[in-house]
Amino acid sequence: MAHSDLTHSDPLWYKDAIIYELHVRAFYDSNGDGIGDFPGLTQKLDYLQDLGVTALWLLPFYPSPLRDDGYDVADYQNVHPAYGTLDDFQRFMQAAHARGLRVITELVANHTSDQHPWFQAARRSKPGAPARDFYVWSDTEQRYAGTPIIFRDVETSNWTWDSVAEAYYWHRFFAQQPDLNYANPLVLDAMLQTMRFWLDLGVDGFRLDAIPYLCEREGTDNANLPETHTILKAMRRFLDQHYENRMLLAEVTQTPADIRAYFGADDECHMAYHFPLVPRLFLALYQEDRTPITDMLQQTPALPYNSQWGFFLRNHDAMGVQMLTEAELQLLYQAYAPEPGMLLHAEIRRRLAPLAHGHLGRLQLLHSLLLSLPGTPILYYGDEIGMGDNVFLDDRAGVRTPMQWSGDRNAGFSRAESPRLYAPAIMDPIYGYQVINVESQKRDPASLLRWMKRMLALRKQHKVFGRGEMTLLQPHNRAILAYIRHDATDTILVVANLSSQPQRVELDLTAYTGRVPREILGKGEAPPIETGPYALTLGPYACSWLRL
Ligand code: GLC
Ligand code: CA
Repeated sequence: MAHSDLTHSDPLWYKDAIIYELHVRAFYDSNGDGIGDFPGLTQKLDYLQDLGVTALWLLPFYPSPLRDDGYDVADYQNVHPAYGTLDDFQRFMQAAHARGLRVITELVANHTSDQHPWFQAARRSKPGAPARDFYVWSDTEQRYAGTPIIFRDVETSNWTWDSVAEAYYWHRFFAQQPDLNYANPLVLDAMLQTMRFWLDLGVDGFRLDAIPYLCEREGTDNANLPETHTILKAMRRFLDQHYENRMLLAEVTQTPADIRAYFGADDECHMAYHFPLVPRLFLALYQEDRTPITDMLQQTPALPYNSQWGFFLRNHDAMGVQMLTEAELQLLYQAYAPEPGMLLHAEIRRRLAPLAHGHLGRLQLLHSLLLSLPGTPILYYGDEIGMGDNVFLDDRAGVRTPMQWSGDRNAGFSRAESPRLYAPAIMDPIYGYQVINVESQKRDPASLLRWMKRMLALRKQHKVFGRGEMTLLQPHNRAILAYIRHDATDTILVVANLSSQPQRVELDLTAYTGRVPREILGKGEAPPIETGPYALTLGPYACSWLRL
């Protein structure tokens, strides 16, 4: 395969990456059937390269009955026919690599679709047969009592009766997603074969979906078991033995301490999302007080050398509300989910721009933090133009609508008749595609898109953002969040005003006495740092990156 020089580059590439999350189905429809596809995505790679992202994370694109939007996989080694063929995928991979874009795909290892041939064989096999043993069975619903139900607005049990098997099968998500049985070594072998298949096609990394739930044991809550970590270590060993410069990204929606375990001693995952920070960013913005953010950053453990946090503002799911007190939760709902349709099993199913009330200053502030915190930023498609959501669509479909390319019919996403689209484009008067689209924002120098492009370029010029240390400052004014990112060559002060009013702040920068801070966006020079407190005034929602 004609890989570009990406293959021979830095094994820590993910530390300098800017990841862009997208669904092939939602991005661009090349053949006018109303469904985005690989040829369409390939046509839009120039846009992504121009925006300045360096890696693409593709949501599941495998054959699937789409009960859970593709997280119910019916064949691990193929492409859903609506999205194209394996050849289309390979052409896409080559085109992405040729532009220096890495590709991260989904490894949905915890469960399959009930339509997967493994499950169809399992339910028809006798208890004790090897095929049966691919899944977790029980004669009663009492096994593993006390395990939380994740999709609790839809499911009432983690067991579902199967009349063909004449037994209950175990599932942590929808009933149509039976959990694989990792107590059976053949299951791990099959998953390693799946990894091999995509790695041989050049995939640079896997997002490990729902990884805490791989193994079960009676008397536990069936999350984060040592057995699960053993499986992850085996996956990592396999990766390291056979491939170079590939990456594993853990989806663990838990506390920083629990998440920390998934890095192991640099022998499990390379990256993990920082879930609990997300609601706290929004809470801090609402309260105009940095405490929810700084508390969480202080609770965030240091990582082994090769490990990296993945930071994000929003993604394809509803916004989690991990680790909030009841009072904080109520505040968050009051501010961000004022209508009942905005919640999904206690989580907030809205996109970034509506959460920021469409306010450009707030969107820029949130992105300034995302791009300067100690980790790798992950953007969700459409957020670079401030796309809206549709809370009238079911489940999480309202944050997965077609990408808004232009003011043309179907947002320029597809030439199909509008009713054929896999989901309607956003059409409301504030976020509708006639107002919010790539084409118009490309022309407007003051647009979010143009600003994002400048910020991504800046971020890439300073490796300190992805690799350096962070020191939090504690100024008296709590509307100000301030931290210093530093490494051997660079020292950057980030100062953010979380409030809607101008704020004055005094920072203790005595360690940097004599230096002259310079704005890295623009050319502004601030007064030199002297021995006393360093005073700055910031406009509403302003965020400065100052090189010391
Ligand atoms: C992950 C995915 C989510 C999916 C679930 C079950 O949490 O992000 O979209 O529904 O796993 O696979
Ligand atoms: Ca199509």
